[in-house]
Amino acid sequence: MTDPTATVKKPFLYVVVCACGVAADVGRLITAALQRDWGVGVVATPQGLTFLDVAAVQEQTGHPVRSAWRAPGEARPLPPADAIAVAPASFNTINKWAAGISDTLALGILCEAYGMGVPTAVLPYLNAAQAAHPAYARSLEVLREMNVMIGTYEPHRPKAGGGADRFRWEEALDLLEPRLGRRA
Ligand SMILES: Cc1cc2nc3c(=O)[nH]c(=O)nc-3n(C[C@H](O)[C@H](O)[C@H](O)COP(=O)(O)O)c2cc1C
Repeated sequence: MTDPTATVKKPFLYVVVCACGVAADVGRLITAALQRDWGVGVVATPQGLTFLDVAAVQEQTGHPVRSAWRAPGEARPLPPADAIAVAPASFNTINKWAAGISDTLALGILCEAYGMGVPTAVLPYLNAAQAAHPAYARSLEVLREMNVMIGTYEPHRPKAGGGADRFRWEEALDLLEPRLGRRA
């Protein structure tokens, strides 16, 4: 029987932020996740870090923004992830992740998440010229085989200023929430 007085731990979400045009708006996903009762920590790629207001993100999440590996023996700066949202996800990081390349902390976390069974959703944000490269479709296929859930953003026209108004940050939560109960 469940103990009605037991405190329920909030699920903890890692938001992996890549160097995409909409990255500076990641606060919208953080706000939505906090409202839906997640704890949130941000892991940015080294390039993605330059797109962020790090102090504002840290203030919002209450956790340090991670981008580099910790030193051996250093305490883990974030709790373990119950789920991961890669948002926004760049062409570069998607292709490297699918290929098993782990040369940023963000990629290291993503590459291990599959073996750890951590539910993961990716919201690509890229233009149609990037999406036309044959590697991209192959990468998405690999990620699908890895049970990664993929957002529905249609790539924008190159050199046309992007499609920030069509990028649905909350889609990451909509994709992940049904998977939360299914972890062993
Ligand atoms: C201003 C600016 C905006 C960019 N926007 C995007 C983007 O929306 N999507 C994308 O895939 N790459 C974009 N790029 C290119 C990436 O930043 C570049 O491929 C970078 O290496 C990605 O690094 P990361 O995957 O480690 O975050 C942009 C670059 C700049 C300078």
